[in-house]
Formats: sequence, structure tokens, C-alpha cells
Amino acid sequence: MAEDLYIENGSKEDKYRTLLPQLKSLLSDEDDLIAKLANVAAALKETFHFFWVGFYLVKGEELVLGPFQGPIACTRIQRGRGVCGKAWENKSTQVVPDVDAFPGHIACSSLSRSEIVVPLYEADGRVWGVLDVDSESLNSFDDTDVNYLECICHLI
Ligand code: SME
Repeated sequence: MAEDLYIENGSKEDKYRTLLPQLKSLLSDEDDLIAKLANVAAALKETFHFFWVGFYLVKGEELVLGPFQGPIACTRIQRGRGVCGKAWENKSTQVVPDVDAFPGHIACSSLSRSEIVVPLYEADGRVWGVLDVDSESLNSFDDTDVNYLECICHLI
């Protein structure tokens, strides 16, 4: 396993393109889920300095906080609640350019201004968790983030 992350000094796309093969090798060397999620969260945080990046895992009728990097966060989210709960319920990636304009947004931190949430799917299409990435700036996430973060979730 590579022990140091190489971070490209270029555009967001360049950074994702360099990160992807490193994550592939990191994930293929490990079969423990928590270890994998923890390293993905750390690699995304280290590469992009996102305000908060982490996972919520489906447990019964709730999402429960999993491995993350950033400030402490709310531990449980009901299905359909907030951006994470909507991504789970709708089985689709949610891009929120301004969290204040998102009805029902759960403000774990008042510093979070925009976010993206990507569902993680079982082979049969059920959602088993979500990747949640928050930024301190408005409009931080676009199609590049959607494409690469969905690809990273697919690898997991
Ligand atoms: N913003 C999320 C809640 C989780 S925190 O951002 C870490 C939401 O509304 O789903």
C-alpha cells in the first residue's frame, strides 16, 4: 500500500484524476469496510481540504455517523431528512449550492455553506450509506465532483 498520498498541483479535475488510481490501490488492498471508508475520507480531506467529509451508514430506519474528517457532526439522520436523508430516499446524488436554500437542511455546523451527498449502493440497488462532503463556500460542487465522487463511491 502506498503510504503517502500524491496530490497533483493542478485543477480540481487533475486532482481527482491523480487521486482515483491511488484510491483504487488503497481499496483493493483492504476488505474491512470501516478501514476503507476512513482512508477515503482522509484522502479526500487531504486532497481538497473540504470542511467536512465523511460517511453515514444505513442502520434500520436511520443513517448513523461513520468514518469522517472534520468537526464533530450529528450522529443520526432519519430517512428523508436533510440532504443525506434525501439522497438515501431518492437514491440520487444531491448537489446543494446553498444549504440555507435547501428545505430541511440539517446544520451540523453553521460554517457549512454548500454540500454534495452521494449514495452508496448494494448490488441490488439498495442504499447502504452515503458520502457527505461539505464546504465553507457557496457553490463549491459541480459536475466534476458528481462524476468523480460517484466513481469513488462505486469503487468502495
Ligand atoms: N448536512 C447534512 C447533515 C450532516 S452534516 O453536514 C455532517 C444534511 O443536511 O444531511
